[in-house]
Amino acid sequence: MAKQRTVVVTGSASGMGAATKARLEADGQRVIGVDLRDADVVADLGTAAGRSAAIDAVTERADGVIDGLVTWAGVAGLTKTAGSLLASVNYFGSVALLDGLRPLLARGDRPAAVAISSNSTTCQPGIPMDVIERCLDGDEPGARVAADAAGAMATYPATKTAIAWWVRRHATTDEWAGAGITLNVVAPGAVETPLLQSTREDETIGKFIDLFPVPVGRKGEPDELAAFVQFLLGADARFFCGSVVFVDGGSDAQLRADDFPRPMGRGR
Ligand SMILES: NC(=O)c1ccc[n+]([C@@H]2O[C@H](COP(=O)([O-])OP(=O)(O)OC[C@H]3O[C@@H](n4cnc5c(N)ncnc54)[C@H](O)[C@@H]3O)[C@@H](O)[C@H]2O)c1
Repeated sequence: MAKQRTVVVTGSASGMGAATKARLEADGQRVIGVDLRDADVVADLGTAAGRSAAIDAVTERADGVIDGLVTWAGVAGLTKTAGSLLASVNYFGSVALLDGLRPLLARGDRPAAVAISSNSTTCQPGIPMDVIERCLDGDEPGARVAADAAGAMATYPATKTAIAWWVRRHATTDEWAGAGITLNVVAPGAVETPLLQSTREDETIGKFIDLFPVPVGRKGEPDELAAFVQFLLGADARFFCGSVVFVDGGSDAQLRADDFPRPMGRGR
């Protein structure tokens, strides 16, 4: 019988994280969920103390070895939310767990990590580039100031762009690909979860949420995203490295058909 795999899922209490946990457990895998509530490891990934407590608790529970990691924990860009919260949770919370749990993955069996971006990275105009730059510089205080100035709505795609670029910069290095760990990104579109519902109820953007074009004619279901993440974590996805895969019902393709792939030398 194959050895049971141990996978860490952040944001496991709700939405796509909960769907991923359910799917992996139904497959006989051991999931260590990390969330603000209702989780094996209850921790606030928006703070340095919460991140290191989470890494310590996972290390202890997993005996220093994990086979998979998915960083679903994230916060929506709503009118009344501070941009700085998004910088700290969506970007720094994700990077801290990817970095902090990488040594555990390196000891795992066919280890794989998946970070979470969004199609807002390419479908939402007006992204504050200074937030992206400060995130990628590892400057959390600076990113928080820039994010508060930009507001949460604009900061959301900035944090999701920064995490995608962080993955593309790191996936190919000795620490990841060289250590046999696959590292990739899933960029969901509109998926029916409590987070999407909170954007629908927002006083500013709420009325636009269901006007956003989704060519397949419906929102995604959390389990559809969980299924793809399960594939990326599995034995058939070992050739994926630094990929950013949009799973969005066609919104990005419809809005920007020729923007990707971009021929080398033709700029960003
Ligand atoms: N739903 C969508 O349409 C959509 C689209 C693109 C990307 N995403 C991204 O997918 C991820 C999951 O979203 P979802 O829609 O399932 O949302 P959700 O709100 O249902 O779940 C997010 C989970 O993250 C947890 N979380 C938030 N802040 C945290 C913190 N500081 N520490 C620990 N856990 C924290 C929440 O408690 C919650 O359980 C997010 O990163 C989101 O940005 C969602």
